[in-house]
Amino acid sequence: GLSERCDTHDGKSYRQRLLVVANRLPVTAIRKGEDSWSLELSAGGLVSALLGVKEFEARWIGWAGVNVPDETGQKALTKALDEKRCIPVFLDEEIVHQYYNGYCNNILWPLFHYLGLPQEDRLATTRSFQSQFEAYKKANQMFADVVNKHYLEGDVVWCHDYHLMFLPKCLKEHNSKMKVGWFLHTPFPSSEIHRTLPSRSELLRAVLAADLVGFHTYDYARHFVSACTRILGLEGTPEGVEDQGRLTRVAAFPIGIDSDRFRRALELNQVEEHIKELEKRFEGRKVMLGVDRLDMIKGIPQKILAFEKFLEENVDWRDKVVLLQIAVPTRTDVPEYQKLTSQVHEIVGRINGRFGTLTAVPIHHLDRSLDFHALCALYAVTDVALVTSLRDGMNLVSYEYVACQDKKKGVLILSEFAGAAQSLGGGAVLVNPWNVTEVATAIAQALDMSPGEREKRHRHNYVHVTTHTAQEWAETFVSELNDTVVEAQLRTRQ
Ligand code: G6P
Repeated sequence: GLSERCDTHDGKSYRQRLLVVANRLPVTAIRKGEDSWSLELSAGGLVSALLGVKEFEARWIGWAGVNVPDETGQKALTKALDEKRCIPVFLDEEIVHQYYNGYCNNILWPLFHYLGLPQEDRLATTRSFQSQFEAYKKANQMFADVVNKHYLEGDVVWCHDYHLMFLPKCLKEHNSKMKVGWFLHTPFPSSEIHRTLPSRSELLRAVLAADLVGFHTYDYARHFVSACTRILGLEGTPEGVEDQGRLTRVAAFPIGIDSDRFRRALELNQVEEHIKELEKRFEGRKVMLGVDRLDMIKGIPQKILAFEKFLEENVDWRDKVVLLQIAVPTRTDVPEYQKLTSQVHEIVGRINGRFGTLTAVPIHHLDRSLDFHALCALYAVTDVALVTSLRDGMNLVSYEYVACQDKKKGVLILSEFAGAAQSLGGGAVLVNPWNVTEVATAIAQALDMSPGEREKRHRHNYVHVTTHTAQEWAETFVSELNDTVVEAQLRTRQ
């Protein structure tokens, strides 16, 4: 278990140290001068969940999202990050290009979300594929070097996400006694999809070096075990995957959020003011909300087309409803993301031209992130949230919306392809985001839903979101990681 507090020789107890290793640190650095930096909170589900983890003496190791070629800058940034308990991994431009833009976000990310491997110019892709994979391994080794430098005996090392599938192997090769866990925040696809990846076996083997491997849903864990049995020929057991007597434990650990953080924010005067302003601005109209990183997996074009279909079919609603879509720019150096931006702008422009009036437009589209308090206010005032991911590991926006809706009891429309559908399916209106007609019908259903029905659905989800928190998720994972390693050591001692 994890509650064990160790005694030091002077009798003081200390909390177990947790080294969280993720590609992106919870703060992104922005350079202000030769040796001065400002730090901003990073976007994304992983960061918002891990902010809720408080039980451990945690250190973060990751990339600060910026290229710092000079030593003065690196020293200053290391110092600034140290105050946030963060330790930077410095990646140069070339590595970022090949590892982050290339292998991670142009190959693994779309593949794990069932969008397939890149298909344009097959020959060129195959050639660059190999060099991107080499860069991926090199980058993972760079993360491992930083972990090894800061690791103290007794620490638990928790590696996160598809960027760092090689990390467990790098760490164990250096120190086989290190307790290493790995967690995937995306779906793990059907083994038939994983099978298409040229480096399929090497990646699986690298992950299996970990002591505990975690996923958001039971299905993802099952897909991973099938990939190991079918592609590597290993044995799958109810506990995980066995390779020559060594067990890698594989299990589902559904993530959550720090719901108290949202509840507290809603009590702040400034947030209440903000809510009042928004209510005034949208008076007489229902407001539907979308909050996504501008990513093809989020199904933003599909969502907007469904809204168009709804407007087409429900003439009476036309000037009484507005869709507010916050699309946070992300991975802007990857061409697919650039294409998506112009595609979304084109659709929004067309629909606003078609249904707008002199005084109002049906879609407000924002290409930027909002600060935490503005976001909480938006979550609280809107009548419906639309989460239409084509695939999504979990999707914590749906959790955040529910956490902020205890007054209004708005309706959550949720894609059945988001991990969250498994936990919030009882309260949400579930949809297939590819079916524009079905989503349009769900919008009408949500806007017309009776208060009693809304209350019942909201209650179901609210109880889930406030009891299955990020804190609990992390404690369960780390506790199990501790126990797993003890078991493995017992076995070798026998
Ligand atoms: C998803 C991934 C995270 C990632 C986040 C933001 O939530 O699972 O690992 O940090 O997206 O993406 P970015 O590329 O900006 O880090």
